[in-house]
Amino acid sequence: MRGYFITFEGPDGSGKSTQIKLIKEYFEKKGFDLIITREPGGTRISEKIRDIILDNDHTEMDYIAEALLYAAARAQHVSQLIKPALEEGKVVICDRFVDSSFVYQGEGRGLGKCVKEINDIAIRGCMPDVTFLFKIDPEIGNMRIKNKNRLDMEKIDYHRIVYNAYLKLEKEYPDRIKGIDAGRSIDEIHEEIKEYLEKLLK
Ligand code: TMP
Repeated sequence: MRGYFITFEGPDGSGKSTQIKLIKEYFEKKGFDLIITREPGGTRISEKIRDIILDNDHTEMDYIAEALLYAAARAQHVSQLIKPALEEGKVVICDRFVDSSFVYQGEGRGLGKCVKEINDIAIRGCMPDVTFLFKIDPEIGNMRIKNKNRLDMEKIDYHRIVYNAYLKLEKEYPDRIKGIDAGRSIDEIHEEIKEYLEKLLK
């Protein structure tokens, strides 16, 4: 038995969290056993790693150290929470997952292929069934954020590189990554996601 693993990706401020809340209600109404989680984070240890990564004071953080910390948080998250839940047949909805590392560390920080290698170790074959990619101009997304963390404060050029990397991933994995025009109303976006999920659940 295996549940469904669904991830949400996209620039900060793209409206992922609002849609995750609505999708939670959708699955609950259908009687699914559901877990909502996030990265970096999701477990006690991974949340501690999150605090280290996002601390506005940690301006000297080395890019490799940063990539390894994301992967370490993910390894704990996959083994402690995601994998067991999927094995029990649950639906796991995760705000960001390994695609974030591919685009933010691999492309944004220019670390390239080694990001895939370290994350292959971390995720142990656990890949999402579907990934909703929220597409919005990163500048607009950034303006919507209230409390900015260390990464939100990066220059807009960084966020543009990241966004273009997302668009590249969408082309590379069309079967898994579903692009969502995040510039529309909350209801319109929710309807589109729901329609897609109906097909998936069949
Ligand atoms: P968020 O929880 O507000 O989305 O913040 C997490 C930040 O961390 C966000 O700017 C994206 C970034 N991030 C990475 O750079 N790599 C990763 O692997 C993940 C999961 C997030």
